[in-house]
Amino acid sequence: MFEVLNPPPADKIIALMELYAADPRTDKVDLGVGVYRDSEGNTPVMRAVKRAEERLWQVQTTKAYVGLLGDRDFVAAMRELALGDAVPAERVAGAQTPGGTGAVRQLLELIRRARPEATVWYSDPTWPNHPAIIQHVGLKGRTYRYFDAETRGVDLAGMRADLEGVAPGDVVLLHGCCHNPTGASLADEDWGSLTEFLGERAAVPMIDLAYQGFGDGLEADVRGMRAMIAALPEALIAASCSKNFGLYREWVGAAFVVAADPKVAKVTSGNLAALNRVNFSFPPDHGAKLVAMILREPDLRTEWEAELAEMRERMLGLRQGLAEALRRETNSDRFDFVQDHRGMFSRLGLAPEKVEALRAEHGIYMIGDSRINVAGLPEDGLDRLARALVSVGI
Ligand code: LMR
Repeated sequence: MFEVLNPPPADKIIALMELYAADPRTDKVDLGVGVYRDSEGNTPVMRAVKRAEERLWQVQTTKAYVGLLGDRDFVAAMRELALGDAVPAERVAGAQTPGGTGAVRQLLELIRRARPEATVWYSDPTWPNHPAIIQHVGLKGRTYRYFDAETRGVDLAGMRADLEGVAPGDVVLLHGCCHNPTGASLADEDWGSLTEFLGERAAVPMIDLAYQGFGDGLEADVRGMRAMIAALPEALIAASCSKNFGLYREWVGAAFVVAADPKVAKVTSGNLAALNRVNFSFPPDHGAKLVAMILREPDLRTEWEAELAEMRERMLGLRQGLAEALRRETNSDRFDFVQDHRGMFSRLGLAPEKVEALRAEHGIYMIGDSRINVAGLPEDGLDRLARALVSVGI
């Protein structure tokens, strides 16, 4: 039966991870996959996570199943972290999912159940798994412009022009903060005007929140999103704990649906549980339990927020350092946008052959669209990196 299968298209992020792993050069630089790194190049287990694991080991007496929607404490704590008090809890259906990817998948499946004719609009560019999952679940996808190649900021006019095609009931997928892959974020007033636009169109926002706390702060990063969901009758939110809790391999995430009223939220919740059941039954517990403990136990929470702030400040410092190194090397300020971007990524705007030359000649790995993982920048090698960039003719 399997002879009919064709090789699937490669995911460019995963393909680059494999290329990097196979490169024998010892001075290679990994700016590819979005994984936080400290100044030693390690991705540590966060301090609060270690302490929560110790406590959990002491108190946990069973590994029996929890529930189709996962750990209720986790779901409630994540709702508070992401949504705050933007909407009443009774209007929110929430489910624990395997990572943020699992949340994206479950929400798209829910859209297909509720309105299979909806078009899902996503930014060009976006995280490559967005269009892949939209297509996989059989929904129609369309792109809207997002990135201004000149300014390396948000192309608000292009975005608005493309979104003119949005029909009532369509879904517009947005990044809650720290846009992946560009690093260019929507300002509060952009969220405001988009909210008005979506309201007029009776369109539904779906917000992928994979980097809360990596931009300007836990609250600042969700200000725009919260104002949007507070003003509209419906919204979908996919939250990930991979990056801000450093729980990558534990697969911790949550899917939220803001419904127009509590009755609809209840039925939606049942549908999320049913979708979990057919896709994987119960979501994995360990990481979610840790997150629930960290968010609920004050000492763990304080420690987590402090370490998250250190990580964020390190990335902001690296942004500034790279912008300064490029200013020195290019004698211009045309790369200053790197310090205006937020989150883990910046799209530098290099042609693919320059990205390839950096890999071949200098062992510098970035995604083909010239997305760099800022956390992977070598603290003491920014000048070398800037020289390499200039040498390939940026
Ligand atoms: C990334 O964009 O590099 C991360 O979100 C990892 C992934 O799954 O692609």
